[in-house]
Amino acid sequence: MTIALANDHAGVALKEEIKKLLDERGLGYKDFGTNTTDSVDYPEFGAAAGRAVASGECELGIIICGTGIGISIAANKIKGVRAANCTNCFMAEMTRRHNDANILALGARVVGPGLALKIVETFLDTSFEGGRHQRRVDLISALENA
Ligand code: RB5
Repeated sequence: MTIALANDHAGVALKEEIKKLLDERGLGYKDFGTNTTDSVDYPEFGAAAGRAVASGECELGIIICGTGIGISIAANKIKGVRAANCTNCFMAEMTRRHNDANILALGARVVGPGLALKIVETFLDTSFEGGRHQRRVDLISALENA
């Protein structure tokens, strides 16, 4: 399992915490930056992680900006990406179970690092249920060609 990591300047510190968690779990990751607190444009980084997941280079992604909103909007423009901005563990669980989300977005200025790491763990530990939810995910995918 390789996880795509990407963030803007607001997400650098949280990404480093997430890397420690992934290291502890023996999970691989590819870091698409940014790695300084110099101001950058989040769409570029959301798109990079999105492309890595959509192409199959990475199985899942975790992307971070100040709110999680801008970078998730950007990532969701990449065909095949289902990025979910989660502010609690229930959302992280349900977006894996029902939406088969392949990217978790986090707002580093919204959730503290302790909660963020629990959200990451929940996202990674939860599987897609399939069944009737597969039909709905297929309908989402169909919209990419609408
Ligand atoms: C950057 O200041 C901020 O706009 C960005 O991190 C994010 O919150 C955008 O949605």
